[in-house]
Amino acid sequence: MVAKRKKKVGLLQGLTFSKQMSLTTLMRVAMDLTSKAIFYYSITGNTKSLVEQTNTYDFDVINLQKTKPEEVNFNTYDTILIGTPTIGDGIPPNVFKKIRDKLLSIEGKDIGLFGSGNSIYRYYCGALDLIEELLLHKNRIIFKFKFESYPTEKTKQEFQMIIDRICKGGIK
Ligand SMILES: Cc1cc2nc3c(=O)[nH]c(=O)nc-3n(C[C@H](O)[C@H](O)[C@H](O)COP(=O)(O)O)c2cc1C
Repeated sequence: MVAKRKKKVGLLQGLTFSKQMSLTTLMRVAMDLTSKAIFYYSITGNTKSLVEQTNTYDFDVINLQKTKPEEVNFNTYDTILIGTPTIGDGIPPNVFKKIRDKLLSIEGKDIGLFGSGNSIYRYYCGALDLIEELLLHKNRIIFKFKFESYPTEKTKQEFQMIIDRICKGGIK
């Protein structure tokens, strides 16, 4: 927080007040133009409910259940959030097999992972760990958010805070 403020002061130092203001506006516009998307899949509706009950601002929201695998396109986004439950001993649903090559080609992006699971299983929300392993070498993992079954109020608040921070430029 302190470091961030120092950097901004340095950048604006020596400029007149009006130039400082236009630079600040430009920075804000640039932040707004950064494109973000949430790609999610949900079988029984728990992961879907979290997405639907979150203010997702200017994120594009793509339901993978309603999208053909060949139409999935990660390329145009800088920040990509992937939501999925875990099915069958730590494995993501089948759709992720179908888009595996597209996932592997994601490079240089900010990635967030979230999804519902059930802690009675050996690999609690293991699908997120697996997708993280696929993506972390060429991207930056900005968060991994696991939650139990249907989203509680606390879950919704915590997830909303993450989204707020991304949209307000707080996750760096
Ligand atoms: C056959 C089956 C296998 C599952 N395996 C796991 C698992 O390995 N790890 C886990 O955390 N949850 C597992 N779950 C629980 C689901 O991930 C959980 O019910 C989740 O809330 C479903 O999310 P959704 O409603 O978004 O589809 C499994 C559920 C089923 C039906």
